[in-house]
Amino acid sequence: MNDAVAAAVAPDEKVLVVDFGAQYAQLIARRVREANVYSEIVPSTITAEELAAREPSAVILSGGPKSVHVEGAPSMDPGLYELGVPVLGICYGAQLLAQQLGGTVARGGAGEYGRTTMDPIDGADSRLLVGDLAHTQTVWMSHFDAVTEVPAGFAATASSPGAKVAVLEDHERRFYGVQYHPEVAHTPHGQMLMERFLHDVAGLRADWTMENFVDTSVEAIRAQVGTGRAICGLSGGVDSAVAAALVHKAIGPQLTCVFVDTGLMRKNEGEQVVETFRRHQGIELIHVRAEDRFFERLAGVTDPEEKRKAIGELFIRVFEDARGGIEDATFLVQGTLYPDVIESGNGHASTIKSHHNVGGLPDDLDFELVEPLRALFKDEVRAVGAELGLPDEIVWRQPFPGPGLGVRIIGEVTPDKVATLQEADAIVREELKIAGLEREIWQSFAVLPDIRTVGVMGDERTYGYPVIIRAVTSEDAMTADWARIPYEVLETMASRIINEVAGVNRVAYDITSKPPGTIEWE
Ligand code: XMP
Repeated sequence: MNDAVAAAVAPDEKVLVVDFGAQYAQLIARRVREANVYSEIVPSTITAEELAAREPSAVILSGGPKSVHVEGAPSMDPGLYELGVPVLGICYGAQLLAQQLGGTVARGGAGEYGRTTMDPIDGADSRLLVGDLAHTQTVWMSHFDAVTEVPAGFAATASSPGAKVAVLEDHERRFYGVQYHPEVAHTPHGQMLMERFLHDVAGLRADWTMENFVDTSVEAIRAQVGTGRAICGLSGGVDSAVAAALVHKAIGPQLTCVFVDTGLMRKNEGEQVVETFRRHQGIELIHVRAEDRFFERLAGVTDPEEKRKAIGELFIRVFEDARGGIEDATFLVQGTLYPDVIESGNGHASTIKSHHNVGGLPDDLDFELVEPLRALFKDEVRAVGAELGLPDEIVWRQPFPGPGLGVRIIGEVTPDKVATLQEADAIVREELKIAGLEREIWQSFAVLPDIRTVGVMGDERTYGYPVIIRAVTSEDAMTADWARIPYEVLETMASRIINEVAGVNRVAYDITSKPPGTIEWE
């Protein structure tokens, strides 16, 4: 991470979440931040010395897919317990903590999966289970092993049918363990437990807010860029938009944005980017109208990979040409987010398919990077965007692939086909918005296949294009499910598309999840 920015965004209080695999660490880190405490994820291979160097205010040990008894199961440098910082173990993390400190973790038994009830143990002195948490509560469990004997210094303070020790606490050393998953939505009082640990037990302040983040980032960006000049490529997406707005707040006219209009954007998207940034935000913007170059390059190209490659390469060339007017710029602003930089349990950053960089810029451009969103999760980026006054349409924009409509038109991409798809796509998104489903759905769009179909309209035979509606729900685009859009909404979309979009005579709905499908059609 760029040191200047990293130093400034990381507040003096932070929680380190140790990742033992599975998908829980990110969720825990997000929940901690929802409690207004900054958090970062670290791999389980971290040594106590490295951990100490990062000066955590508290440490949370995540759940994981393994049993502590299995050879090669991830462990934790026991030096952690000498650092004097509060520790909360969750599920696997609780078992590991219990085992490392001298307790007993029994293998097997029936295990416990899904919702269960947990009861406080009568007479136990609990610091976690107080107030609304001091009663029987529903919790979400997923474990096979269970802690059967707590280590010296600990007391068991709650139990469930499948876990004699569902919560264990050592107030003296401020070490805690919960067998259940407080970070998941299925545990109704889960967030309350997290807050009890963070604020009451560990004594952490609740000052990680996006308002504070904007203030500290502005300082950091000024310190990094000084009197230099920066450029930022705008894609129309939320990440680059928020990064640009934030950097502009910091350095004003020292920033120039470059927006390459490939002609493959959604309806009116190009105008909206220009309007928002140039007029409302007052950002100096180079608007490169490169539609003709892209259509020329794509003529006759039908293979999906070839298409992606062609679009990606041309994008870089056009961007480089646009730099001509601002050659003195030495800083490049990028909207990299925290999930892209997380050091995961197995030691490599989260993988994005290589072709997903299409529409991005290569690493070897000769710039110093300014990445002001490197510490943020997506929901935090949206909050920063709102804080900076960006309009809802940009802040809540759905992900959009770099190659744009190019990968949603099967076969050759032509200006006519793009115009047809833009109209159909606009209807899909409009109707979804009217139905109030826009924010629940990860992506919703139209696809134009390279086939034609027979229909009948007002006694006349038609021979036109079908349009496919694709809408998915997802957490991170790695997996996705087709969205259960109400039939009435689909019906309105279909009838509007057929009536309003010339050349289209049929509408289909894609009900493939990912896997086996992908979200995009190409
Ligand atoms: P797939 O189709 O692989 O897409 O399920 C997963 C997510 O990635 C987006 N996507 C891209 N994003 N450049 C991007 O910036 C690309 O070339 C690209 N291709 C796909 C897609 O929209 C979905 O959100």
